[in-house]
Amino acid sequence: MLDVAALRREFPTLQHGVGGRRLVYLDAAASAQTPRVVLDAMERYYGAGRSNVHRGVYPLAEAATAGYEGGRAALARFLGADPRGVVLTKNATEACNLVAYGHVRRHLRPGDAILSTVMEHHANMVPFWHAAEANGLELRHVPITEDGRLDLGAARELVADGRVRFAAVTHVSNVLGTINPVAELAALVRAARPDAVVHVDGAQAAPHIPVDLAALDVDSYAVTGHKLCGPTGIGALVARPELLEGMEPFLTGGEMIRDVTLEGATWNDVPHRFEAGTPPIAEAIGLGAAVGFLEDLGMDAVRAHEVELGAVFLSGLRDAPGIEVHGPEDMADRGAAISFTVEGVHPHDIGAVLGDRGVCVRVGHHCCKPLMRELGATATVRASLHVHNDVDDLEPLLEGIAAARAMFARPAVSA
Ligand SMILES: Cc1ncc(COP(=O)(O)O)c(C=O)c1O
Repeated sequence: MLDVAALRREFPTLQHGVGGRRLVYLDAAASAQTPRVVLDAMERYYGAGRSNVHRGVYPLAEAATAGYEGGRAALARFLGADPRGVVLTKNATEACNLVAYGHVRRHLRPGDAILSTVMEHHANMVPFWHAAEANGLELRHVPITEDGRLDLGAARELVADGRVRFAAVTHVSNVLGTINPVAELAALVRAARPDAVVHVDGAQAAPHIPVDLAALDVDSYAVTGHKLCGPTGIGALVARPELLEGMEPFLTGGEMIRDVTLEGATWNDVPHRFEAGTPPIAEAIGLGAAVGFLEDLGMDAVRAHEVELGAVFLSGLRDAPGIEVHGPEDMADRGAAISFTVEGVHPHDIGAVLGDRGVCVRVGHHCCKPLMRELGATATVRASLHVHNDVDDLEPLLEGIAAARAMFARPAVSA
């Protein structure tokens, strides 16, 4: 059981109310709040340990290198991965682009196909669409069922001809909340094409459910620090080192080389080959502290808390009049993002009314425009949970929705 009252005190932003009201932060799926322990780690680097990494031989520089590499090692431990497979990037978007440029554009040729799904965030869709256009590849999309799950029967048919050499799928949908059976999907893809590479977008999974990459058996996994209670400006592509070995560098320059002559260059070992220039040092240190914070809470406890709270949220939303919740019914099948629409009221009006009441939710297409078209919506409201939320956050949410309905909902026009 998480002690939420105590945990809330660890997040400085949550100490600031809005107009005398408690700040109800229900937007961790966009960006999680940062606990003090992360700020302290970054402050120690800037205040007492500031130096560049991988070059100086004086103790300050060696300590900075140890801090940066410590962030990489902590993330590897957190995800059950080999640190040699952890490429630190700017965010999850860059991680998806890295695999699109480094692997897909380098190795896939006309006649090959990419498997994706209709529920992908643009970050895990556009880089592969772009690569497909550049290399003349076919794109195939797994559809969803009525309750927002991947249609695995359709997926099986989509890979049957053995032409799918790369698959990109999200672990947890940032709109529907669906937890996808990525291990099953990976097995299905590889059954049709044993050398296919399976890339997973873990941006909405790693902060909320225990992730063991060795057990998932996928080839690469993208995460982003700011959703993991870490700083902005850092993320990672966590891959099998062998996949990285076969990838073309995406950015070139200093730090990523072994040798440079006037005629050419040879590349550094992985993962450094993919980290050109001075990296985000304070951010890596902060990310290490952030995953340490989550590990101290225990990811099983984090998940149990969000399942319990999510169930209360879902039933509260379903009992309220005029609300349609998207995605699977049961918290056992979903992560911490809960999207809904309110009959007769535009999501932006809901968001504005809630915002005035100190309730922070995300409204819009959530960078999932193709999925919005599938749902027949232009936008939804999304409330998302994290370790600092409790049932006290539900009441202001429901009250705010009711107030918005009273203000904006048009009565049904009778014939
Ligand atoms: C599922 C998913 N993938 C990828 C991203 C992109 O993360 P970032 O903007 O940090 O690159 C997000 C962010 O909202 C997301 O929800």
